[in-house]
Amino acid sequence: MTKRGLFITIEGVEGAGKSCNMPFIRECLEQTLSVSVVPTREPGGTEVSEAIRGVLISNDLPAMSHDAELLLMFAARAEHLDKLIIPALEQGSCVLCDRFTDASYAYQGGGRGLSLDRIATMERFVQGDLRPDYTILFDVEAEIGLARAKGRGEADRFEHEAIDFFNRVRQQYLKMAVEQSQRYRIIDASVGFDEVQQQLRDVIGGLQ
Ligand code: TMP
Repeated sequence: MTKRGLFITIEGVEGAGKSCNMPFIRECLEQTLSVSVVPTREPGGTEVSEAIRGVLISNDLPAMSHDAELLLMFAARAEHLDKLIIPALEQGSCVLCDRFTDASYAYQGGGRGLSLDRIATMERFVQGDLRPDYTILFDVEAEIGLARAKGRGEADRFEHEAIDFFNRVRQQYLKMAVEQSQRYRIIDASVGFDEVQQQLRDVIGGLQ
């Protein structure tokens, strides 16, 4: 039987630099661990999940209820797990996912104030026992991240939130990183590009 591949997720507030480092992380993983890597993202990653992403981030739908937002995140996740993540892991590939369920704890829990227990119920319902093996958190002050994100073009529905929302998102990520320190690796994303990549090399070199 093929050994299940590693499931690695990347998290952080807007503008922390995670998405633009995905190709670098992929390359490091392939070289260091000699595995084939399937990069993907949430919300999204499959046809249906990308369609749900379109609804979630659309500025034309600003008045979405918090519960509807949470359920859509998990609907997109259920499809992503079924069509892409679980098959790839079962084939022995490493799945590298730009955001996953910790983003629901951080944004819908920390940011929107939804109950973390309810999110945990959804997590069990959609994922069963499956959890990421490692989570790399790009940590940066929300203000710095948002300023960087603003330079990237039109803001999506989430990027219109106030700074307090992103401060709560960041605090929830940091809380999870402390509580689940075996799974989490923290990158100081406030420094320059080269230094971030050096930290990533070090972190990935230490994974098994
Ligand atoms: P992205 O632009 O960083 O890919 O993600 C789109 C937005 O979706 C981002 O603001 C974070 C948000 N998000 C949640 O609120 N909950 C989630 O579970 C996920 C995966 C993303």
